[in-house]
Order: sequence, then C-alpha cells, then structure tokens
Amino acid sequence: MDVYEAVTSRRAVRGFTDHPVPRQVLERVLSAAAWSPSGSNLQPWHTYVLTGEPLAELKKRAGERVAAGDPWDEREYEMYPPVLKSPYRERRSAFGDQRYGALGIAREDWEARRRITAANWDCFGAPAALFCYIHRDMGSPQWADVGMYLQTVMLLLRAEGLHSCAQMAWSVYRTTVAEVLSPPDDLILFCGMSIGFEDATVNDARTDRAPLDETVTFVGGH
Ligand SMILES: Cc1cc2nc3c(=O)[nH]c(=O)nc-3n(C[C@H](O)[C@H](O)[C@H](O)COP(=O)(O)O)c2cc1C
Repeated sequence: MDVYEAVTSRRAVRGFTDHPVPRQVLERVLSAAAWSPSGSNLQPWHTYVLTGEPLAELKKRAGERVAAGDPWDEREYEMYPPVLKSPYRERRSAFGDQRYGALGIAREDWEARRRITAANWDCFGAPAALFCYIHRDMGSPQWADVGMYLQTVMLLLRAEGLHSCAQMAWSVYRTTVAEVLSPPDDLILFCGMSIGFEDATVNDARTDRAPLDETVTFVGGH
C-alpha cells in the first residue's frame, strides 16, 4: 500500500469485528510510528496499548458509568472552542448530519444520538485500543507533535490491513481509564484510539473535505 492509498483509505471506523490484533503487529506499527517528527525530537507522546482482559475491564467500567448516567469527568483540556466560528461551525454541523444521517437518525433524536455516542466507550467493538497521554506542562507545539504521531500510527495501521478511530471521547472518562492504566499524575489523556478489523456491516458515513482553495493558499509560481 503506498502512502496516498494509506491516507485516502484511512477513515474513522466505528464498527470492528472481534478478530484479535496480533501483538507483534501493534509492536511493528508503534516502533515505526516512533519515527514521527517532533520539535527538537522531544517525542512527547506516552502510549498505553490495551487488549484482552484489561480492555474488557475498561469497557465494562465505562459502560457502567454510561448506564448510571454518571457525569463526565472534569475537563483537563477543552475539546473545542466554546464558540465555533464559521466555517468550522458549518463543518461540524455537516459532519453531524453525515454521521447520524448514514444511520438514519434524525438531528433532534437525542436518545438515538446518545446511544450511538455511547459506542465510543465500547471502542466500537474493537479488540485493541491505545491511549495517548502528554505531560501537562507541554504546549500547543507538542500537542501538534502528538497529532502527527497519531496520524502516523493510523496510516501504518492501514498498511497492516487494520482500521482505527481516534477518540477524544475517552477524555471525558479519563479517571476510569486511569483506574485501569495507572498513568503518572503529570500526564493528561489526550485521546484513545480503537484499533481492529472493520466490521463492514456497520453503516457509517464517509466524510467530505473542504475544497483545496478554502484551506490552502499558494503564493508564487508554478
Ligand atoms: C483527535 C481526534 C479525536 C477524535 N475523537 C473522536 C471520538 O471521540 N469519537 C468518534 O467517533 N470520532 C472521533 N474522531 C473522528 C473524527 O470525527 C473524524 O476523523 C472526522 O469526522 C473526519 O472523518 P474521517 O476520519 O472518517 O475522515 C476523532 C478524530 C480525531 C483526529
């Protein structure tokens, strides 16, 4: 698989089979992803990989919180600005329409949307997941480094025939994740990532993208 194919075939997959992901594949992917760039080569990512019993335990504990209607944990970072301006507001709304529309869920059907969202905390059925942390004293450039690293992981997973879904949703149950992983106190959970083989029977939308001239400005010659 060439890089273009890895990039264009990667998408957020939200339905996985229970087919296990071999440990050596995850080790190969994460070893290669370590070559991701970072400012001054800080490599500010801290990754925990969960499979088997510990992942089942995490899903169980998170599921119990969802079922109990537990409030989300206090935020350690804001996922989005409190007010999303144009064009981001419209893009988010289009994403919601695509995502829930593909599942036949109406915009105002909050119960169905809640149910669909809850699948996050079951890792959409995935048999493997990773959780990526960053030190709390790191700034935006290091958070960007972590983003590059995570994208590298997702592309390498494609090269292995695997799919993934990055999940900030896990940050709202970060204390439950911490119960299972016991990370040091000075780390913040940025996001989780479900990993596995796609369950092709699960209906999901393919998102679109803004046209190139909305996001890229060429200055200069050919
Ligand atoms: C950092 C990050 C966090 C995300 N968190 C979630 C999440 O919690 N739950 C989810 O279903 N999708 C999540 N996504 C997936 C995005 O919704 C998805 O990448 C976006 O809509 C573009 O669609 P595509 O990845 O299928 O191309 C996340 C993506 C990123 C990059």
